[in-house]
Amino acid sequence: MTIQKVGVVGCGLMGSGIAQTAAQSGFDVVVTEVSQELLDRGVKKIHDAWAMMQSKGKLTAEQVEANKARLHPTLEMQDFADRDIVVEVIIEQKEPKLALFRQLDAIVQPDALLVSNTSSLPITEMAAVTRRRDKVAGLHFFNPVPVMKLVEIVRTVETSDETVAELRAFTQAMGKTPIIAKDTAGFVVNFLLIPYLLSAIRMYENGVATMEDIDTAMQLGTNYPMGPFTLLDYVGLDTTLYAAEVIYAENPDPAYAPPPLLRRMVTLGRLGRKTGKGFYDYSEKK
Ligand code: CAA
Repeated sequence: MTIQKVGVVGCGLMGSGIAQTAAQSGFDVVVTEVSQELLDRGVKKIHDAWAMMQSKGKLTAEQVEANKARLHPTLEMQDFADRDIVVEVIIEQKEPKLALFRQLDAIVQPDALLVSNTSSLPITEMAAVTRRRDKVAGLHFFNPVPVMKLVEIVRTVETSDETVAELRAFTQAMGKTPIIAKDTAGFVVNFLLIPYLLSAIRMYENGVATMEDIDTAMQLGTNYPMGPFTLLDYVGLDTTLYAAEVIYAENPDPAYAPPPLLRRMVTLGRLGRKTGKGFYDYSEKK
C-alpha cells in the first residue's frame, strides 16, 4: 500500500503542523478536533502559515489554493473510514488515546495504519487495544512541525517491517528525515533532551547562574537555536513535566526526576508561551 489519504485527529499546535505539512506535501488530509471552535482555530493557523509562505515567495497563490483543497476539516469520525493512515495527536493522556485507537480500529479499513504522535506514552498499549498490532507505530514530530526535519518512527515488538517501510516513505515524502526507535519512554530525543532541560532548572534553583545567562551560554557556547529556558517555554512546562514523569516511572534515574520548581510553575499555570508566562514573561518580552 502507498499512503495517499491521511487522517489527523487533533488540530492543536502539533496536529495543525502535521496536517499542514501533509497537505502541502500533496497528501489528501482529513482533520478533526473535539469542537467546531477548536477545529476552526487549527485550520486558521494552517491557512495563516500558507499565507505567510506565499508572502515570502515560498508558495504561489495556485499552490495555496491547491493545499486548501486537499485539507478537509470535519467533526465526523466516519470521514476517516477511507484513510490509509490516521495520526493521533490528541491530549497526552492514556485513556483518551486508548479510546480513540479502539474507535479508529473499528472505523478504518483493515490495512490502514494507526500511528500516534505521543512524545512519551507507550505505543505498545495503543497497539494492544487494536486488531492490527502490526500496523500500529509511533510517529513523533517536533515543534514547529513544518520546520523541524526529524520524525521518530517508534516500533513496538509487533510493528511489522512493512509498516516501518511505509512510514519511512511517508515521512520522507513530507520532507522529513526519519529515524527508527524502540518503544521505550522518551524514545531518542526526549530521553536525551529532558535531563538536559531539568538540569538547567536545577542549576538555576541552585543559583549557579541566571536564566538569561544559562540560555546565552547554551545558545552561544553550543550553537543551540534556543537556550534551555526559552526552549522549555516553547515546548510547554506541562508537556515537559509529563514527559519527565513518564520517563522517570519507567527509568527511575534521578536525572529524570522533575525538579520542585517545574512542578510549582505548572501548578500555577505558568506553562510557557501558550499561557503568556513560563520562565519568561511574554506579555512584556517580545
Ligand atoms: N510553516 C512554514 N514555515 C514556517 C512555519 C510554519 N508554520 N513556522 C516558521 N516557519 C519558517 C519561517 O517562515 C522561517 O523561514 P525563513 O527562514 O525562510 O524566513 C523559518 O521557519 C524559521 O522561523 P523564524 O524565522 O520565525 O524563527 P527562527 O529562525 O528564530 O527559528 C525555530 C525558530 C525554528 C523555532 C528555532 O528557534 C529552533 O529550531 N528552535 C528549537 C526548536 C526545537 O528544539 N524544537 C523541538 C522541541 S522538542 C519537541 O518538540 C518534542 C517533544 O516531544 C517535547
